[in-house]
Amino acid sequence: MSSQPPMLAADLAEIAERGRALILSLQDAGGAYPASPTFSAYRGYSWLRDGSFIADAMSSAGEVASASAFFDWCARTLVARAPEIHRIVAAARAGAPVPDGEMLPTRFTFDGGSGDADWWDFQLDGYGLWLWAALTHAERHSLDVGPWRRAIELTVDYLASSWDRPCYDWWEEHIEEVHVSTVGSVEAGLRAAAASTALDDDRRALAADTAAAAARLVRERGTADGHLVKWLGSTAVDASLAALIAPLGVVAGDSATGRATLAELERQLVVDGGTHRFATDTYYGGGQWPLLSCFVGLAHVSAGNTARARELLDWAAGTERASGSMPEQVADHLIDPSYVDEWVERWGDSADPLLWSYAMFLRLGVELGVVTR
Ligand code: BGC
Repeated sequence: MSSQPPMLAADLAEIAERGRALILSLQDAGGAYPASPTFSAYRGYSWLRDGSFIADAMSSAGEVASASAFFDWCARTLVARAPEIHRIVAAARAGAPVPDGEMLPTRFTFDGGSGDADWWDFQLDGYGLWLWAALTHAERHSLDVGPWRRAIELTVDYLASSWDRPCYDWWEEHIEEVHVSTVGSVEAGLRAAAASTALDDDRRALAADTAAAAARLVRERGTADGHLVKWLGSTAVDASLAALIAPLGVVAGDSATGRATLAELERQLVVDGGTHRFATDTYYGGGQWPLLSCFVGLAHVSAGNTARARELLDWAAGTERASGSMPEQVADHLIDPSYVDEWVERWGDSADPLLWSYAMFLRLGVELGVVTR
């Protein structure tokens, strides 16, 4: 339980509006959302994961053109890589999958390039997330997905050919594992594609069959003691699992698995409303992430507990700096403070602002009715 008095809805709305304005002002002319305009390791790149959730938040807040511009950018970026995607899909279908280093990247420069810096690049979740976010946006605002159809088809083929490969997780770690949040992100995207009348019957069936296989894998190997786990065979949890409940909706908030997962996340990872990524996190000492408290809040809304969601939104509100920016993480409760210095030496202070943080605040604000669309 939070010991702080509740914040005023008007103050929460103001924070969300600052977030909306910052995201609009930093969106690249070509549609890409930068992860962070200032942080040394992220500057100049747009992630499919961050960007898809930012676009979903903007879409839910009524920023139709901004979200569409991001999906236009995704579509252009992916169609430009069609030959690469055909090669990856053909190799997988022939039983000789390409090595991890030849799979599609996790983040792109604003012109759709791969950039020069080495990164933990092979991650599948963002490909499912852009499908989910784009198709949800189109549904929400009755838009024609024609301009994105080719990119959606390429993405369905890519995911269907490779969805169960081990790859880096949301936090760009553990390439040797199959991560439940990644599989759930892919399932969400493929489910959305399976329901889209813009695709032909064969591709819809491919998307539906692959989504069903992903759901089966999570059901059979992705739980322990009734709750979702960090990766297949693990017993630990990870805060990214909250997203599978909401906004992705692949696990119902009021199902036994949904409830058990939320209870375990609260028990292991949420301290005074602030949410850690996972119990052994040491990145910048392993602080608390406002965007994750908002994901846990969205999951609570889906389970019917809006009071708890509001407490989590209030906690996230308290992470905004006086300068008007919301960081990636705050250091009030660190898992292991001895790791802070080495990260600061490597990359400087942790990311601030992080657009994804403000976006999740906005998304939960909309869900709780403190932000008008
Ligand atoms: C996080 C990723 C995120 C990236 C850009 C990394 O530190 O682990 O989840 O996509 O930053 O915000």
